[in-house]
Amino acid sequence: MAIIASNFKTNHTRNTTSSFVEEVNKYLVSNNISNEVYIFPTATSLDKFDITSTLNIGVQNAYATQKGSFTGEIGTQQLDEFDVNTILIGHSERRHILGESQDEIAKKFAFYSDLGYKIIYCIGEPLEVKEQGLEQTLEYIYEQFEGININYEKLVLAYEPVWAIGTGVTATSEDITDVHSAIKSKIDKPLLYGGSVKVENVRDICSLNGVDGALIGTASWIVDDFIQIIENTK
Ligand code: G3P
Repeated sequence: MAIIASNFKTNHTRNTTSSFVEEVNKYLVSNNISNEVYIFPTATSLDKFDITSTLNIGVQNAYATQKGSFTGEIGTQQLDEFDVNTILIGHSERRHILGESQDEIAKKFAFYSDLGYKIIYCIGEPLEVKEQGLEQTLEYIYEQFEGININYEKLVLAYEPVWAIGTGVTATSEDITDVHSAIKSKIDKPLLYGGSVKVENVRDICSLNGVDGALIGTASWIVDDFIQIIENTK
């Protein structure tokens, strides 16, 4: 039984998100599926969904504040309206596209962990680091734990090699087990893999040593595919 998470990124609307969540929930309930499942829609598609306890609706990002003068951001005052208590932090797109620094990520982690949020914390190396070998890759990843409380009780980790995200190039079993076993030797927390996970490969990936589930983008945006992914890992 694996932890399965769908990151919508900047996809779906309020209507399509609502029907997606409803269909996943119906599948989980009617098939008595005990997988821990997460859906991270865009903030504008959040709602108070009537869902089973094994389904969590989280937010892909939020600022480290309750409210205030942070143009373009949302804080807990907005999240509380939707009973959100789960957040994705440190995603490589926020690091490398949106320029979030490790210091800003650590502050966000501290703020939301102090509030008792479930946190899926993302780490992963870019291609130029991967090409330097496993030692440099691990060094890079360990630096991404700077300022992070790795003993936080509601922490789930997600290893997402940047070069596998959205590329269709999935990390090999060796790539995954090398990094996962190293991280697991230091941090005893659930550890997901993300990066071109598909319906066809999710079962094998989740059966690898040190892999507790998957954080999925592209292959999870069609609800039937996401349900099949859960079916393949139940
Ligand atoms: O957060 C999951 C995401 O970054 C993986 O994307 O499209 O490679 O499954 P994708």
